[in-house]
Amino acid sequence: MRGSRGAPPLDRRSEILRIVVVGLAFALAACAGAPEATAPVTSDSLRALRWIAPQADAVKALTVAPIACEPAPPKQPTAQTLELTLGRIAFESPALLGGAAARMGLSCSSCHINGRGNADFFIAGVSGAPGTADVTSSLFSKVRGNGAFDPVPIPDLATRDGGQISDRNSQQFEDKVRGLIVEEFDGQPPPAYVFEAVLAYLDSLDVAHCVDPSATVEADYAGDYAAVISASTILRLGEAPADVKLFYIRAARERLERLHERFIGKGEARAQLEELSALFAQAADGIRAGSSAPDLSGQLARLGVALVQEGGRSLYSPEVLQAALDP
Ligand code: HEC
Repeated sequence: MRGSRGAPPLDRRSEILRIVVVGLAFALAACAGAPEATAPVTSDSLRALRWIAPQADAVKALTVAPIACEPAPPKQPTAQTLELTLGRIAFESPALLGGAAARMGLSCSSCHINGRGNADFFIAGVSGAPGTADVTSSLFSKVRGNGAFDPVPIPDLATRDGGQISDRNSQQFEDKVRGLIVEEFDGQPPPAYVFEAVLAYLDSLDVAHCVDPSATVEADYAGDYAAVISASTILRLGEAPADVKLFYIRAARERLERLHERFIGKGEARAQLEELSALFAQAADGIRAGSSAPDLSGQLARLGVALVQEGGRSLYSPEVLQAALDP
């Protein structure tokens, strides 16, 4: 970008104003300072702790993620962009799974974080060494439980190596993924659009998209908030089938719950999260009764402001999380 010292053109000014406001909010959040004393955090209050190996660095596991190796988004979003985003949100949602896995809050991405692997994954009875899982465990599957304990390393789905099916447009791959959802994790067959979106998302993953596949990214509240926003876009698409809208309402509410687990201090955020979750539930009732979904953009924007203001005091902050895990 060329550095010009003149007044920015009008359309840039609102953008700059937005950045200033956000920056100010971050500064205020930082000033709020020292971690808040809170009740100890356990796997009851923070579900993600349920599948982190005891010997792993829990703070790191909860705040840092392997980089996603997805294609760069095009300048102008297309229907394909939305499909990939919604595929990722389904992949990251317990709503895609059923049975014990969904009840404990597990999603595909608990094992395949950002579509990669998870070296710290551990569930007693499912894992051998950390980073492995027995995907024929009867804990998760009524159908596939084979009675044998045979955990294998969780593969990085972006490397597409080893025993992975190379053609992700093949019937074989489709059958494999359907089997994972319906048989392995006792899920309901997802709505056709959701299933197609998951397949498209899986097909988009490739380490070739990453400059440095070993890089990591901060896993903060912005990712969960963005997922709520993206999931809610489908509600406004008149032509989307009701079952797809209901699926993404479940996904959105689950992301709100994840945020709620981490925004534990006094403040606006918790109240906003609870209000929005209730509004999504009402929207679901409305859709079941045949009415169109309400516009939640005002509430979503207010939630965004509260998250920015209180993020530094939430359990998304490594320092606050460390203090809460080890009081
Ligand atoms: C409990 C951890 C765990 C969860 C949850 C999980 N996976 Fe996996 N996944 C594995 C393991 C282990 C393998 C390697 C064994 C295998 O291929 O069956 C694997 C393999 C895969 C493969 C490679 C298959 C191939 O042959 O190309 C895909 C794709 C995949 N998983 C997608 C998913 C999807 C989609 C979900 C959610 C519906 C999911 N996984 C949930 C652990 C998990």
